[in-house]
Amino acid sequence: MLKEYESGQAPDGQPFRLVTLGNDQGFQVILMDWGATWLSCQVPLLAGGTREVLLGCPTPMDYLRQNAYLGATVGRYANRIRGATLSHDGKRFTLAANQGEHQLHGGPEGFHNRRWQQVEQDQTSVLYRLHSADGDQGYPGNLVADVRYTVTEDNALQIDYHATVDKPCPVNLTNHGYFHLDGANSDIRQQRLQIMANQYLPVDSEGIPCADPTDVDNTGMDFRQPKTIAADFLRDRDQQRMKGYDHGYLLYPGLSSAEEPAARLWSADGEVQMEVFTTAPALQLYTGNFLAGTPARQGGEYLNYSGVALESEFLPDSPHHPEWPQPACWLKPTEAYASQTRYRFLAL
Ligand code: BGC
Repeated sequence: MLKEYESGQAPDGQPFRLVTLGNDQGFQVILMDWGATWLSCQVPLLAGGTREVLLGCPTPMDYLRQNAYLGATVGRYANRIRGATLSHDGKRFTLAANQGEHQLHGGPEGFHNRRWQQVEQDQTSVLYRLHSADGDQGYPGNLVADVRYTVTEDNALQIDYHATVDKPCPVNLTNHGYFHLDGANSDIRQQRLQIMANQYLPVDSEGIPCADPTDVDNTGMDFRQPKTIAADFLRDRDQQRMKGYDHGYLLYPGLSSAEEPAARLWSADGEVQMEVFTTAPALQLYTGNFLAGTPARQGGEYLNYSGVALESEFLPDSPHHPEWPQPACWLKPTEAYASQTRYRFLAL
């Protein structure tokens, strides 16, 4: 099956199309139309030179050989939907399951695994578009998704998501970039992290929510003050079930304007800081607990815990939990889905 792609062509027989965006400070990112994927992120350092802070594969072809969703745009619905079913207005929809009986990240042929159309491009911005047909991965209605990546003057990559539907459908678009601010193929648990959230979502051993959003007080899940990821690693039963952090955090409600950071991450050597700004209600913290075996940019394979993902989204399995304190995840034909996330990098 993989052999026919050896020539460097994507599964649709066409070449991968890559785009480089940058600013005058030397901040530079590379994107690819397959999966509307973020491939590379070079951050200028104070001492001179740049540092690659995003996990990536050696070649576009290698992205087809991994299941960590490295840098990909994830949809229609990021994270898990229990039992791969939806119900709305008395109708029931069966989704394509790809994690046991559940659906993860939009199904086996989710948006990460599709050719996006490159609609516009200039030196700082690229716009990708995807038409997803009625019934795609089991979802109701036709959907048009736009993802615009923009490099800003303050060394951020801004990601703007937009989607419309012609039948009600839950929509939850995110980027699945993994960061390693020390730029190495090594453990990220010495990096410090802060997440502006009072509550997280407990999950069972399949990653399915098993309780309502729960206070982080007096648990290892609390990142309100910066601490290393290692500090309370595997302290809680919640983490033990998932081999580490793999949990949705409900962000402080006032953050949805994206003016204040929702999370901060510091490299272990203290030279790089990342700030995440988002209009989404939640962030999934995933510490790369199952990254082992993923083809690594520098050659060889990544190990577990060699990257950390901070995915802006609705809480996992939200279609089954309209009672949770966040906006509705069902998009109506009369509305537009819009979500913005900025990953900003500072040299220290
Ligand atoms: C999920 C993990 C999953 C990973 C890669 C993350 O967003 O929360 O449970 O293993 O994606 O699929």
